[in-house]
Amino acid sequence: MVKYHKDFLHTHWRKGKEYIFAVDEVSALNPLGLISSFHSPTKTFKPKFLYFAFFALVSCILLLFPMLFSLTSSFYESETGVKPFLCLSVPNETLCCDRSSRRSDTCIMKGDIRTDPATSSITLYRSNHTAYGGGREAIQHEKIRPYTRKWETHVMDTIDELDLLVKTGSWPRHTCDVVHDVPAVFFSTGGFTGNLYHEFNDGITPLYITSQEFNRKVVFVILEYHYWWITKYGDILSQLSDYPPIDFSNDTRVHCFPETIVGLRIHDELSVDPALMPGHNRTISDFHDLLDRSYQPRISSIIEDEEREAGTEIHADQITRPKLVIVARNGSRAITNQDALVKLAEEIGFFVEVLKPERSTELAKIYRVLNSSDVVVGVHGAAMTHFLFMKPGSVFIQVIPLGTDWAAATYYGEPAMKLGLNYIGYKILAKESSLYQDYSKDDPILMDPDSVNKKGWEFTKKIYLDSQNVRLDLGRFQKHLLRAYYFTRARKNRRSRRLSV
Ligand SMILES: *[C@@H]1O[C@H](CO)[C@@H](O)[C@H](O)[C@H]1NC(C)=O
Ligand SMILES: *[C@@H]1O[C@H](CO)[C@@H](O)[C@H](O)[C@H]1NC(C)=O
Ligand SMILES: *[C@@H]1O[C@H](CO)[C@@H](O)[C@H](O)[C@H]1NC(C)=O
Ligand SMILES: *[C@@H]1O[C@H](CO)[C@@H](O)[C@H](O)[C@H]1NC(C)=O
Ligand SMILES: *[C@@H]1O[C@H](CO)[C@@H](O)[C@H](O)[C@H]1NC(C)=O
Ligand SMILES: *[C@@H]1O[C@H](CO)[C@@H](O)[C@H](O)[C@H]1NC(C)=O
Repeated sequence: MVKYHKDFLHTHWRKGKEYIFAVDEVSALNPLGLISSFHSPTKTFKPKFLYFAFFALVSCILLLFPMLFSLTSSFYESETGVKPFLCLSVPNETLCCDRSSRRSDTCIMKGDIRTDPATSSITLYRSNHTAYGGGREAIQHEKIRPYTRKWETHVMDTIDELDLLVKTGSWPRHTCDVVHDVPAVFFSTGGFTGNLYHEFNDGITPLYITSQEFNRKVVFVILEYHYWWITKYGDILSQLSDYPPIDFSNDTRVHCFPETIVGLRIHDELSVDPALMPGHNRTISDFHDLLDRSYQPRISSIIEDEEREAGTEIHADQITRPKLVIVARNGSRAITNQDALVKLAEEIGFFVEVLKPERSTELAKIYRVLNSSDVVVGVHGAAMTHFLFMKPGSVFIQVIPLGTDWAAATYYGEPAMKLGLNYIGYKILAKESSLYQDYSKDDPILMDPDSVNKKGWEFTKKIYLDSQNVRLDLGRFQKHLLRAYYFTRARKNRRSRRLSV
């Protein structure tokens, strides 16, 4: 969790944006007591349709008048913070870099491309009928660090840099040791990899966005390659690529490709924006479907094993009660009265399961638990990234400790709503925080966390993230559990009525 804090630096460039979060009062809720994804009262959503129409219009204009781009792109910038990709149709034998996004640079090369791990470079060789003459000098040279946190210079400095070169002329080229007939996507699994939020937000989701157009006919070339990462995400990687990934620095062979994309495209936090994927039209729900396909085989085999052991068939739907999963933390931001919470939820009628995800817990196993849940409760932190494993339509209750409102809404609340989860941000009262015991009742730490956060990241981390536990006011929390319970019952009934018709 050491690296988690870097998230917060987002504030510096996203301050202006309004976020919805922290629904803790009855009045703010719709009749079911749940904020549903696209009907949030506090959020001003641009209708998707208009967005699309606008995008189509812009595309047409761009085709006709490329020089207008600077104008239109600044509009996009203000709307989403991310622009559509500039290097959409790159002619053969060219290198095009899009450095317009604040989150990542992406370069595309097409033609006769050869890797050279010894010099950390990738060279595009042009045929020599062009007017450039022939020499050993590169006629174009770009540098890129293929990681998606461009605005955080201190982490970008730790990412391996690649030289992209275009050369022409007849002098000898590197000999290909391995010839690939499909494109390559180059990216780094360095930086903040090791923290679940970062692994999905900076790595897996952008990899999906960048590579899905190739329909698995793509090779992943990885910088700062970690064997554990390949193992952990193997289920997903095999859905995105039919080829084994290449460890760029350790594989000394010269790989030749007809096309390469260097650096991943990224949209918003844990999001897939169809408007930014012209021609491909994918959403975060498609990404969720990819996860389901990824974990299906492994989960089936786990179930088979269990059945063999038990000597009987397991029926996943045996439990008719709504299922509530508590994603538990130990260390900081734990729920100190978790046992009482479990008891309360059981009294309400839930079947309760406590999940303690560890760094080494197999993701398929976590997926299985969350995919079978109706309601998930957890305290704000990187483990909330697991909301991606929940079925759209289910209820996600994020407990928001003092001083974490912005991060809770930005990193998990908003993206969860985009996935179609019914999101409740339960903002704790000062009395529910362990800090209440540590400071006087009028201390800004309790009364005005924003002012403390403004003092700097070290304060946020030390006080609110590392030193805070939560003791839920169960009377207050119960209202949300009850709503989630009745909502789920109603949903289940509707579903079984539909099935019996
Ligand atoms: C692209 O250029 C390379 C030479 O650099 C050539 O071998 C290849 O056939 C070209 N591909 C297309 C689609 O024109
Ligand atoms: C490339 O250059 C070499 C030597 O300069 C020459 O023999 C060859 O014909 C050239 N090829 C083309 C396609 O111009
Ligand atoms: C480098 O590659 C070799 C051969 O593929 C492999 O045996 C070795 O473990 C790799 N080293 C690292 C550090 O990954
Ligand atoms: C995008 O996908 C949605 C749902 O799959 C479909 O209704 C819509 O027509 C698609 N739009 C484009 C531009 O392909
Ligand atoms: C997740 O749950 C849905 C609905 O219950 C089921 O159809 C799907 O197979 C499950 N996915 C996996 C990977 O088990
Ligand atoms: C969290 O739990 C794990 C095992 O359940 C244990 O190894 C670890 O020390 C605990 N961490 C803290 C801070 O209590």
